[in-house]
Amino acid sequence: MTEARTTEAGPVLAGVVGWPVGHSKSPLIFAHWFAETGIAGSYTRLAVRPEDFEDVFRALPKAGFRGVNVTIPHKLAALERADEISPTARAIGAANTIIFKPGGQIFADNTDGYGFIENLREGAPAWNPAAGPTLVLGAGGAARAVIHALLEAGVPSIRLANRTRAKAEALAEHFGARVEPIDWAVRDGATGGAATIVNTTSLGMTGNPPLELSLDDAPATALVTDIVYTPLETPLLAAARSRGLATVDGLGMLLHQARPGFRAWFGADPAVTPALRRAVLEGPVPEGLRPEAKT
Ligand code: ATR
Repeated sequence: MTEARTTEAGPVLAGVVGWPVGHSKSPLIFAHWFAETGIAGSYTRLAVRPEDFEDVFRALPKAGFRGVNVTIPHKLAALERADEISPTARAIGAANTIIFKPGGQIFADNTDGYGFIENLREGAPAWNPAAGPTLVLGAGGAARAVIHALLEAGVPSIRLANRTRAKAEALAEHFGARVEPIDWAVRDGATGGAATIVNTTSLGMTGNPPLELSLDDAPATALVTDIVYTPLETPLLAAARSRGLATVDGLGMLLHQARPGFRAWFGADPAVTPALRRAVLEGPVPEGLRPEAKT
């Protein structure tokens, strides 16, 4: 049992620390779960500049916070300032879920890869990671969590294509022989025989160019997924669907990665439901993104 560490009774506190953080949809997820479970919790956006991160991070437990999610640009800083690091966070090299323990220790975990795999298992129950090689596009922060999770899930090998090849090579070096860096230019051919195809780049996101990837060589049994969820159906997923391939959109990764934090801080296992998806997709435009806030 975790004791609240404030002297005043009140809701249990958690939040998301980022800079900027106004775009974060996490408060919508937690608000939905508070309403659904009846738990008296509070989950807030905390906009913290990089130079203030350490001071604020250390002070949060004293202000009564049970834990926080951390997002860009603090995912590495949170890992470095934690007292205990989960093997997963260590392998990914970044933290996204922090637990402030009653004894004062700061525990850092990373649930992005968990969210990614849970989303695939929910969206494509027949998906078999061991069925064949995976093609991963992109070698940024998100790719690290995705690659770690795919390897843990038992994919036999990963073809890793990134515009900047050196970053794909660095990840191959980090994750070992099952990850093979390939040139960005040959990505179309790498869909041949791929059981799973994953976009982890920001291509296809609203406002960005689409990911150009021919699926002509992809097996009819391939599963195609995208971590981009704005729009929900990216051009890649639309192309996959029109070829009759199985697809899973990226929203569920965001929803599932939030579950371990909710469990740790509020003591209940929340569900990812169609109602939650609607709440997050249709929720109020976050503060700071409202047109009037810009003037
Ligand atoms: P995240 O943490 O979301 O993964 P990131 O670390 O900035 O964000 O990584 C973004 C990814 O999208 C990278 O793989 C990036 O490729 P580079 O490593 O070559 O920068 C990829 N990306 C972004 N814009 C791209 C573009 N126009 N063409 C190809 N890849 C792109």
